[in-house]
Parts: sequence; C-alpha cells; structure tokens
Amino acid sequence: MKQDNDRRRIKTDDRGSVFLHLANSDMPASERAPERLLKEAQVLLAGGTATTSHTLGEDLREELRKPMADWPSHIPTLVELEKLPLLTAIIKESLRLAYGVMHRLPRVSPDTPIQYGKYTIPSRVPVGMSTYFMHTDPDVFSQPFEFKPERWLGSITPKMLRNYVPFARGSRNCLGQE
Ligand code: HEM
Repeated sequence: MKQDNDRRRIKTDDRGSVFLHLANSDMPASERAPERLLKEAQVLLAGGTATTSHTLGEDLREELRKPMADWPSHIPTLVELEKLPLLTAIIKESLRLAYGVMHRLPRVSPDTPIQYGKYTIPSRVPVGMSTYFMHTDPDVFSQPFEFKPERWLGSITPKMLRNYVPFARGSRNCLGQE
C-alpha cells in the first residue's frame, strides 16, 4: 500500500518522462529515492549539454584561431569579430533565448491614433509586445526552445529578423546594444 502511494506521487502529462518511469518502476525503493533521481538528472543534463557544448566550443576555437593569432599584440577589433559567422550565430542565439526582459514593453502614442492593419488604436492606449513570444514563435524559429546557433548560419528569413528583438526597437531601444 505504501509503495502504491509512493508511486502515485509523481505525475506528468501523457508524454511521460525518464523520472516517471524510474519512480514507477519495480526497482527497490532505495533506487527510486530522491537522491538517486537527482544523480540521474545530473548525468542526463551533463550527457546532453557537455558533449554538444564541447563540440561547439572546438568549432568556435577553430574559427577564433586566425583573428587571435597575434594576441596580445593585436587584439581583434569588433569589426573583425563581427565577421566571424559562428561567433555571431552563437551570440545571436544566446540573446534569442536569454533576453533581458520577458514582459511586454508598453509604448504609448500621446496624441495620434495608431493604425495597425484593420485596427485603430486610440491615442494614450498602451501597446506592447513581449520578446518571449516573438523569440519563441514556432512559425518563425523551429524548435524554439532549443539552442541552435546553426539557425543563424543557414538562410535567415525576413520573419526571423523581424521577430528578433533582444534590445527592443524604435526610439526607446537599448542604448547599450552596440
Ligand atoms: C545583453 C545585454 C542587454 C540587453 C538584452 C538589453 C536589453 C534592453 C531592452 C530590451 C531595452 C528596452 C527597454 C524598454 O523598451 O523599456 C533596453 C533599454 C536600455 N538599455 Fe539595455 N540591454 C542590455 C545591455 C545594456 C547596456 C550594457 C547598457 C548600457 C551601457 C544598456 C543601456 C540601456 C538604456 C540606457 C536603455 C533605455 C533606453 C531608453 O529608454 O531610451 N543596456 N535594454
């Protein structure tokens, strides 16, 4: 009975999870204890991240070899670094997923109504869009929650550029972005 209660404690959606199966398995209770599951999570996390980051790191090291060849007598300029496709892609993808502000950034037109498609927004009504929704729109960024720098190395669509706003846009955009 106690075992049944233990097994009912963990619930997930229909997709299930490694932990659901471990916790509901016939393994001895000690094997399903939180400490054991915690260690399993660490292994899974390291297995999925350390490997890919290592490969990516090696590619980046290779790309940086030439511009960094004369370090420290020549420190690469920003213009030189901006020409490196992988470095640029990694920074862009990092900012796509790790934007600073998640909530909407409201703007107000003080005295002129705004025409947005068929909608007329009266003056003094705040309007805003959240970077979160723009950066994770699956129609624009496939597998939006995956860190995939290569999406910036292939064909960059106009929608990707339109939806990419880590520093906001317009007259009140980030002064620090350059
Ligand atoms: C990765 C780093 C950064 C990110 C993601 C970021 C993002 C943003 C965003 C989204 C806004 C717009 C806020 C709004 O619309 O209300 C903003 C505004 C601003 N940021 Fe940044 N920022 C970054 C770094 C910096 C740095 C390093 C500085 C200064 C050296 C800076 C200075 C400012 C200032 C002064 C504004 C206000 C501009 C205005 O209201 O006219 N930011 N930033």
